[in-house]
Amino acid sequence: MKKTIKPLTQLPAWKALAANHRQMEKRPLRKLFTDDPKRGERLTVEAVGLYLDYSKNRITDKTLQLLVQLARESNLGGRIDAMFHGDKINLTENRAALHVALRAPKSDMFIVDGENVVPRVHAVLEKMTTFSNEVRSGKWKGYTGKRITSVINIGIGGSDLGPVMAYEALKHYSDRGITFLFVSNVDGTDFAEATHDLDPAETLFIVSSKTFTTLETMTNAESARDWLVNGLGGDRKAVARHFVAVSTNETRVSAFGIDPTNMFGFWDWVGGRYSMDSAIGLSTMLAIGPEHFHEMLKGFREMDEHFRNAPFEVNMPILMGLLSVWNNDFLGAQTVAVLPYEQYLKRFPAYLQQLTMESNGKHVTFDGREVDYQTGPVYWGEPGTNGQHSFYQLIHQGTRLIPCDFIAFAHSLTPMGRHHDILLANVFAQAEALAFGKTPAEVKAEGTPTALVPHKVFEGNRPSNVIMADRLTPKVLGSLVALYEHSVFTQGVIWNIDSFDQWGVELGKVLAQKIVPELEASTTPTLAHDSSTNALIRRYRNGNKAHAARHPPTKRRQG
Ligand code: F6P
Repeated sequence: MKKTIKPLTQLPAWKALAANHRQMEKRPLRKLFTDDPKRGERLTVEAVGLYLDYSKNRITDKTLQLLVQLARESNLGGRIDAMFHGDKINLTENRAALHVALRAPKSDMFIVDGENVVPRVHAVLEKMTTFSNEVRSGKWKGYTGKRITSVINIGIGGSDLGPVMAYEALKHYSDRGITFLFVSNVDGTDFAEATHDLDPAETLFIVSSKTFTTLETMTNAESARDWLVNGLGGDRKAVARHFVAVSTNETRVSAFGIDPTNMFGFWDWVGGRYSMDSAIGLSTMLAIGPEHFHEMLKGFREMDEHFRNAPFEVNMPILMGLLSVWNNDFLGAQTVAVLPYEQYLKRFPAYLQQLTMESNGKHVTFDGREVDYQTGPVYWGEPGTNGQHSFYQLIHQGTRLIPCDFIAFAHSLTPMGRHHDILLANVFAQAEALAFGKTPAEVKAEGTPTALVPHKVFEGNRPSNVIMADRLTPKVLGSLVALYEHSVFTQGVIWNIDSFDQWGVELGKVLAQKIVPELEASTTPTLAHDSSTNALIRRYRNGNKAHAARHPPTKRRQG
């Protein structure tokens, strides 16, 4: 039954947190650590192979207690149960958000609309396994009888970012005999560059799209089909050996010309940005093999169980979510920097951008009321140590507060001389420098000329989390992604927003569909936009016409 909850800012815990924040002004991190020498060991939590040190956040035990109280007053427990029970928690789309069923063992039950969906999940996993084994072993042949040496995933958003991130993150475990490429942008350059050196006879396309209507993906898929058919002598029968689809929309997949037997399905209760462990992960399974893929699912599952069962006080995703609410709503931080000290995680910040910002970039509550507090912060980041030589200056000495999530591993997958010690020394040093800084007295004591002292002072008191694991395995990646998924969910529950819809992407899509014919019209169209948009369209059309006049098609072909 739906529990009635007061508006967030009226909750007792929220008011108490506001008062707690006023007191915290006098208690910088330096003092909190001096007063409690064990803080750095105490304010940590370990679960399913991940260690989270959150001691360098601007909180006291009282703050933590109030944040947990806030979670209770917001009915987080009830909302977690509702998600795992397959309730339609995505209210505005009237859908369940049951990505946790994607990693359930066969023996589990997850019910959507009265049906246990776990057998369907496993049927798709088995189909993916058979196909992956065939492609990886060379049994699956292209139209001319050659084996597949290049796989291109065509998709965008959740149908791209998860697959790219996972491929890069788990490259160490991948089959190096196959090249994996990802085409997402409707900018033709993306497709042209990806296919530049490829032989169509050895190339497999995975068209990944939940809806199979997304403009970018369908445009790229059509170009891919032309490239393939032209490259293989014009026979459209070639498509069957070189195209597979991942989608929920069988009708559209067939209409495109892909045999539904070569389609890998998923369901409307899997949100795009929560789909990397569904059939959308087909490229991941092709790259790392079914066994590693199943290990990744195990990592997801273990974090799901931790999230569902651990008390709030020691629940890693809940703590991370609550700390993010604290930093965002009480400390006024507008962004979060995600800084993996692991080159293989170079696409992790980009992946998290969709997961976090498409989920929690909302300005109204479930019942349509405008919020009077901040919701989802901006996520961004780069791998360390590169970022240190670029934007860290602003994090250390700028005027904005930027909480950081550092991610590091005890062991390198590519050990080489002193590299890993140096890498890890840097991540520890950065978190230390941000928290404790350097006072004017310390700067002076180094003999710094007086005029330079203010420039060399580090205020410190900048919050960060450090997430550590033993090494980056498929299982650890699964747990790490699930950690952020559930942290995002926790934040959405506190803010009372729908973390599973994305209406904000619609307007631009609709307007673009209207503008395309205006750009392509052979006669001057009547434009009814604002003066700026009209002028831009005219400028583009004039430039194009001038270009076309200078380079008529026949001449271009010869060139
Ligand atoms: O435009 C946003 C979005 O709907 C995302 O939520 C989704 O991941 C992406 O587009 C791609 O959608 P599809 O998988 O249906 O092509």
